[in-house]
Amino acid sequence: MSLSFSSNPRQDRASVADRAAILANPGFGDHFSDHMVLAKWSQDEGWHDAEVTAFGPIQMSPAAAVLHYAQEIFEGMKAYRHADGSVWTFRPEANAARFARSAKRLALPVLPEEDFVDSLKALVQTDIDWVPEAADGAETSLYLRPFMFASEAFLGVRPSKEVTYCVIASPAGSYFPGGVKPVSLWISNDYARAGEGGTGAAKCGGNYASSLAGQLEGIAAGCDQAVFLDSSTHTYIEELGGMNLFFVYKDGRIVTPELTGTILEGVTRSSILELAKDLGLEPQERRIPIQEWKDGAESGEITEIFACGTAAVITPVGELKWDGGSCDHRVEGHRDEIAMKIRKTLLDIQYGRTEDTHGWMTRL
Ligand code: COI
Repeated sequence: MSLSFSSNPRQDRASVADRAAILANPGFGDHFSDHMVLAKWSQDEGWHDAEVTAFGPIQMSPAAAVLHYAQEIFEGMKAYRHADGSVWTFRPEANAARFARSAKRLALPVLPEEDFVDSLKALVQTDIDWVPEAADGAETSLYLRPFMFASEAFLGVRPSKEVTYCVIASPAGSYFPGGVKPVSLWISNDYARAGEGGTGAAKCGGNYASSLAGQLEGIAAGCDQAVFLDSSTHTYIEELGGMNLFFVYKDGRIVTPELTGTILEGVTRSSILELAKDLGLEPQERRIPIQEWKDGAESGEITEIFACGTAAVITPVGELKWDGGSCDHRVEGHRDEIAMKIRKTLLDIQYGRTEDTHGWMTRL
């Protein structure tokens, strides 16, 4: 039986003026809508107590397992307003399936796909005024963050017998403060993001925590982000802390690191593999040695590199730096044409500005 998300709307919603001021300049991840979804799971009762309630602190014991052993997973999606006022999301069933895979890897209960999608609908319908208006070329949306964590108060190491599911929503503009401009990347000598047999393919907080020291190293070296290599040979390109990577070659190939179990299967990544075919490009998934990046930048074989994810959409990559060297594939006058073309195609589908021939959009 599917969950029913009972709604308890709050009386003290943000004023129209306060909300309008936030939506005019949302940034990323700083502001939150008036409500959130909560649901509970226990070993004895299964999923229960699903509701839409006021956004606010979650009461939990300091002994809650998530605070000690990081048994937690999350997703990232967006609600887009179309020109006719309707609100849609992109491939929610793909996020629901990944959420289920992440849950299995982290020994958490699976939330059925129907309940996952219903929880998004329940929150967005309650906070519909928080979805920014459609505007020409608009890229603002309501970012949706479903997550699940071990809430049982117990210090032994075993899967939690009590779990909390929550969805919060945050109006979003550009992920990077400067908007769409090339990011510089740092290859860490010391840190990897994920190892074989580990949790690299799951969307769990621990992967993001383990990327932070490498990111700090990169920032200290004057870069925006870190790029992680495989942990066993330190040879092959994997991903950034929270984004997948694509390489465009002079001959029309567009290549992304294959899924080896240590890389997150991004929904944007798999959509780009489809869109590339529509655009007459030749998509490939394979292992890419870091040396190929350095050589391709030098020889001009690699013409564009970009990062992708739900939050950042598509962001061009510029300089690559490492301890003792650097390279840059971008020649003067470079306009990241393929990256920007794919970016526009994707955004046009998401904002309903072009026909959704893949059937990717779901109305909320
Ligand atoms: C996303 O792109 O939605 C992500 O989850 C990346 C980051 C914001 C954690």
